[in-house]
Amino acid sequence: MDGNGRWALAQDKKRTEGHKKGGEAAKQVITQCAKLGVKYLTLFAFSAENWNRPTQEVGFLMDLLLLYIKREVTTLTKNNIKFSVIGDLSKLDDKTKKAVNDLQNKTSNNTGLHLQVAISYGARQEIVNAAQKIAASEQGFTTDNFAKHLYTNNVPDPDLLIRTGGELRISNFLLWQLAYTELYFTKTLWPDFTADDLNKAIDEFKSRERRYGNV
Ligand code: FPP
Repeated sequence: MDGNGRWALAQDKKRTEGHKKGGEAAKQVITQCAKLGVKYLTLFAFSAENWNRPTQEVGFLMDLLLLYIKREVTTLTKNNIKFSVIGDLSKLDDKTKKAVNDLQNKTSNNTGLHLQVAISYGARQEIVNAAQKIAASEQGFTTDNFAKHLYTNNVPDPDLLIRTGGELRISNFLLWQLAYTELYFTKTLWPDFTADDLNKAIDEFKSRERRYGNV
């Protein structure tokens, strides 16, 4: 969800205003995915590297995430959405950890869209963590077993990655899982990204031919 800061700058607002508008865009995209029957949606909300941002911005983002996690229970229930978080949750404060756990529990039996929010997430860290767990368990390093030790265990690899904000890179997101994912880049800044933009990305995805290394 890239471009919140630039969106705010362009309107002569504080970066935090961009994050606030970004939260609204996220809600729109989540409900549109539920409506379309998308089975899995993963949103990159806060990276392992984002902890290095100014304290005030980190605090604002954490408060915003906590607000959504606490406030949107009814939106999730109404739309039959299952919620989970991927990332290094040990770095979150106790009240956020509790709110995450509560929402995961409350929505665990929902059967519609599975929404994963990546918080304090880094793909390299996830891969090292999986390797450490396998090494400690004396299990085999097969690709299937490796995938089972990632945060995304039981969630299929993404079909489509959308990166907003015009950057043409992956930035430590789902490096293992993106092996055969179709990539879609748009200059639209995240706060301006609408349900129509999502539909456009999905239409373009439908026109792609996926060969998985085959002919
Ligand atoms: C990247 O833009 C965006 C973030 C670091 C925060 C994204 C988080 C939200 C939108 C909070 C709400 C999330 C949910 C799931 C409700 P940037 O700050 O790097 O923008 P820039 O590239 O223009 O500086």
